[in-house]
Amino acid sequence: MSFVVINAVTVQGDASADFEERFAKRAGKVSQSPGFEAFELLKPIGDGRYLVYTRWATEDDFKAWMQSQQFSAAHSQHAERGPVNGESEVWRFDVLQAEYGSA
Ligand code: HEM
Repeated sequence: MSFVVINAVTVQGDASADFEERFAKRAGKVSQSPGFEAFELLKPIGDGRYLVYTRWATEDDFKAWMQSQQFSAAHSQHAERGPVNGESEVWRFDVLQAEYGSA
């Protein structure tokens, strides 16, 4: 079964527009990485963290993406604009069950 990695980012209130704008301009290259299955940027309703959800065929596919050019490209705005005003925490999961709708 697949492997899920979530980057949970706490964004200070006044930095959320900047954070969302960075994602609006994201590299869009993660989907080219071998073993890539899904990406979602989840915005909290009310208080909470933004979650950057990624799903991979295997943990090794995620590790390879982390070490790839695509990962550097995914985070290039840090170099250009400085880090996001927030803290992040990485959560990892094995997918035990899954079901997806067709809508
Ligand atoms: C220090 C930790 C991290 C921070 C603060 C962070 C924040 C960000 C930000 C602001 C962007 C928007 C693009 C940019 O700024 O250039 C981005 C892109 C992205 N991040 Fe991170 N990130 C971190 C690590 C990770 C990790 C560990 C993952 C794994 C789930 C991840 C997954 C992604 C993905 C999938 C994209 C979009 C890539 C694409 O469009 O190709 N990030 N991240």
